[in-house]
Amino acid sequence: MTGSVYARTAEEDPGIIPAPAEVKWLPGTFHIGKATVILYSDGVAQQQATHLGRFIEQELALKPAIRKNSGAQGSSAIVFTSRPAPHLGKEGYRLTITPQKIEISGAEAGLFYGLQSLIQLMEKYSGTRRLPCMEITDRPRYAYRGIMQDVGYHIFPVSFIKSQIDMLARYKMNVYHWHLTEDHGWRIEIKKYPKLTQIGSIRASSQISNANEAYEGQDHQPYGGYYTQEQIKEVVAYAAARQVTIIPEIEMPGHSLAALASYPYLGCGSDPGPYQVAEKWGIYEDVYCAGKESTFRFLEDVLTEVMALFPSRIIHIGGDECPKERWKKCSFCQKRIRDQHLKDEFELQSYFMQRMERFLNKQGRTAIGWDEIMEGGLPENTMVMCWRDIKEGIKAAKLNHQVVMSPVTPLYFDYIQGKREQEPYAIEWGYNPLALVYSYDPDPGALTAAQKKLIVGVSGALWTEHMNTPQKVEYMLYPRLLALAEVAWTPKDRKDSVSFFEERLPEHLAWLDGTQRNYRVPEPGGVSDTTLSGASFKIVLSPPVKGARIFYNFDGQQPGEADYLYRDPVILKLEKGEKRLLKTVAITPSGKRSVVTTTVFQNPG
Ligand code: ACM
Ligand code: ZN
Repeated sequence: MTGSVYARTAEEDPGIIPAPAEVKWLPGTFHIGKATVILYSDGVAQQQATHLGRFIEQELALKPAIRKNSGAQGSSAIVFTSRPAPHLGKEGYRLTITPQKIEISGAEAGLFYGLQSLIQLMEKYSGTRRLPCMEITDRPRYAYRGIMQDVGYHIFPVSFIKSQIDMLARYKMNVYHWHLTEDHGWRIEIKKYPKLTQIGSIRASSQISNANEAYEGQDHQPYGGYYTQEQIKEVVAYAAARQVTIIPEIEMPGHSLAALASYPYLGCGSDPGPYQVAEKWGIYEDVYCAGKESTFRFLEDVLTEVMALFPSRIIHIGGDECPKERWKKCSFCQKRIRDQHLKDEFELQSYFMQRMERFLNKQGRTAIGWDEIMEGGLPENTMVMCWRDIKEGIKAAKLNHQVVMSPVTPLYFDYIQGKREQEPYAIEWGYNPLALVYSYDPDPGALTAAQKKLIVGVSGALWTEHMNTPQKVEYMLYPRLLALAEVAWTPKDRKDSVSFFEERLPEHLAWLDGTQRNYRVPEPGGVSDTTLSGASFKIVLSPPVKGARIFYNFDGQQPGEADYLYRDPVILKLEKGEKRLLKTVAITPSGKRSVVTTTVFQNPG
């Protein structure tokens, strides 16, 4: 059989996000019908066969038989075969669709990702139940494909965490970095230190404004919550079944005020405290004392319970934004500097982190920290999460450390995605629109081939100062997560223009629209907030979500359902000197609305 090369238009493209490494079209179609059976090679493959059976039952109202592959496959079989192959790696897979058979092969994670691709194809072609024949050979560009969810500033229910993990898995992401401790709240039950949650999980008030505003408002309402160890075990198992590793983060030595409020002896000086769980956003000078042995005993105890809950090889220990003011005045910290022959407080932080890293290493774990951990020297096997600037990632790779790229621009999803006046309240700086996320290349250049291999992946970040509901987090996360997934997975030479991504997106957003999740509806295609000059225009609009309606007007009012419904291209003719304002809004099947776009058309004559 011969196949055509990778297709590039939306009609021909299988539409999978993230785009697979290689797609080859084959002649014919596979029909999913009453005769279709699902076969598996072994227990590992059986899990995916069972998932697919459930999906087909729910989505296509068929109940295919599921059984072990004995060799006789019949005329319509979907076959899962455990077959690790060096060229596919742990996570790669091959998905072959011919008229008689669909086969997915690979190692365990590969079978799972092959299933995700097949599910996306079945959704796309569910109307006809006929899948076009093709061969997909796929494997990820990066091993670490994650998001960071902060639950310190605000906490979210377990059901929501699971919903996020479902989305990660669907889009072939494999890390959920769970930021569990903050100045503003300690969110993980530690049996040996019950006050961490009795006291440290609750603050008296929350800030409902931005730091640089004249109005630094507070809501004066107690706020709190934490995850029990039982809940954490449940989330970890849920994620593992979906090939997602949960990396817990226990912050140190900074961002630790909630712990200090619970156990004041952890602070600097001979009579530390009292402390209060933080109520205003920002950075606090009260941090763990680096001089007292009791601090290290406490953190080792905490990490011991954390390691028992999280099988992840990688444990995040923070390290960012740690002011040194208290250490400069603390006799214990100054004694530590003298005894250890350290140069200054930066080296003291380095001592602190190295001690904790060695502790983790002894238990077979690897530490990762925010890029400030490079200040004052870095233990050799520590991983660096680059956030302030990609220069920090370059520096870490040059020092021979593995790096996860999470630069504020464009991977901080607490930054807004559109014009500020039309976006919900957010952190006051930063602008990371969808196209900017999609265009991001984690390869920072300026590195040798060996150093580039140290860039192990990417992470989007969700800091939640201004997100106190799951719906707000979802608005900030989707659809930027889909763009990030393609950045993380799709090989650089297969990743196409932003417009190629935007062509595939409406189908995926239609699916998302039907799932109860919130998301930011992109602007309709064909308009933008610009001024266009000419005498005659053909205005062609396209819905950002499949099935969405676009309403428009030329009267300057906010557009809505009572305006013109876009059906066919609009021909606009202008007299000399005439100017018209086109305002558009897209409304999705579930009723979500895009922001309003205003396009100015003018004929200067
Ligand atoms: C950070 O955003 N402070 C890592
Ligand atoms: Zn101290």
